[in-house]
Amino acid sequence: MRIAQKIRSLPPSATLAVNAKAQELAAQGRKIISLAVGEPDFPTPEHVCRAAKDALDHGFTRYTPVPGIPALRQAVAAYFGGVASQELPMEATMVSNGGKHALYNLLQALLDPGDAVFIPAPYWVSYPPMVQLAQGEPVIIPSSLENNFLLSPEDLERTYPPKARVLLLNSPSNPTGCHYSQDELDALIGWAMERDVFVISDEIYDQLVYPPARPSSAVRWWIKFPDRVAVVNGLSKSMAMTGWRIGYVLAHPDLIKAMVRIQGQSTSNVCSIVQKAALAALSGPMESIGRMREAFVRRRDLALATICSWPGVKCPKPDGAFYLFPRMDAFFSKTMPDSAAMCTRILEKVGVALVPGAAFGDDRCVRFSYALDDETLLTALELVRNALDRGVN
Ligand SMILES: Cc1ncc(COP(=O)(O)O)c(C=O)c1O
Repeated sequence: MRIAQKIRSLPPSATLAVNAKAQELAAQGRKIISLAVGEPDFPTPEHVCRAAKDALDHGFTRYTPVPGIPALRQAVAAYFGGVASQELPMEATMVSNGGKHALYNLLQALLDPGDAVFIPAPYWVSYPPMVQLAQGEPVIIPSSLENNFLLSPEDLERTYPPKARVLLLNSPSNPTGCHYSQDELDALIGWAMERDVFVISDEIYDQLVYPPARPSSAVRWWIKFPDRVAVVNGLSKSMAMTGWRIGYVLAHPDLIKAMVRIQGQSTSNVCSIVQKAALAALSGPMESIGRMREAFVRRRDLALATICSWPGVKCPKPDGAFYLFPRMDAFFSKTMPDSAAMCTRILEKVGVALVPGAAFGDDRCVRFSYALDDETLLTALELVRNALDRGVN
């Protein structure tokens, strides 16, 4: 079977590979705890589910406009506008099948072959392949754990490639949980604006920022430079709606039109029922987010204290999302020389699934998700520690 070259060179998703291995072991009767999850362990709020049921009961089951029903686009515009206390036009928004799909559409609409996209590492696994699919060239900018995996304009300047077209920022970050303050984000975007580099700000974890840190956003920059900034967000993380597939973007109306053309020739509108649920999520009560945030702060503190007590392990304190990204290379050995070997050993020996740091651009680290209850989390961490001890001996 001949498969297109651009697909053959696409790496398989590391997170899916870990989950497949974990499922294989579970099918053999092994008890597996997954710390590889990328979704909140909370239910979608009841009022959101009710809105979906109502949509179904009222027969709201037909095609909708490709960029989304106007009421939802208005709610999305109001969400983005709320960040800057300013009204924004719905023509600058559209909804897609998840933040991932919004990013995909954006990159397809923006990139010409060979255009370079700056991607700070550690990065979310899907960024480089998405850039590749849009025929762009990912340019990875390393960061250091000592600086909380955050970059400065000087770091960007050092790696500034010719044909730089886009800078892809993500705060709070998957996989590190580290987060740019508004001042830090402003410095990076200001640098990009001066060099005519387009900024995509992936703010999917914006509701999961932990005090005293505060959410930061590129929305004000979009208002100033609407043709050079786009902001991506969605409801997967904030409203525990990963399976519903709903994300959205704020961008120049001309760029939105280009993205609508792409989406119109591929997936068309997001599921009509999901759009009604998303409308309820954006315009209804938000208390569930606060409860989720409190639980994540507690678990972050528990997991961080445990992991940092392991010999040679270093991990910055994340200000958001639900991941820890510690440096684990102190445990590397001849038989366990990298993060993939480490994760395989931990999974096989003690049944805990983790994602190798190599998948996120830093092979010295491993990603731990703490989106599961306190007791299971602590049990899993103890098991990991046991596996590592055995690995060393
Ligand atoms: C950094 C980041 N951006 C975007 C997404 C996309 O989420 P979704 O497509 O579920 O909205 C994820 C999901 O894991 C993510 O971690």
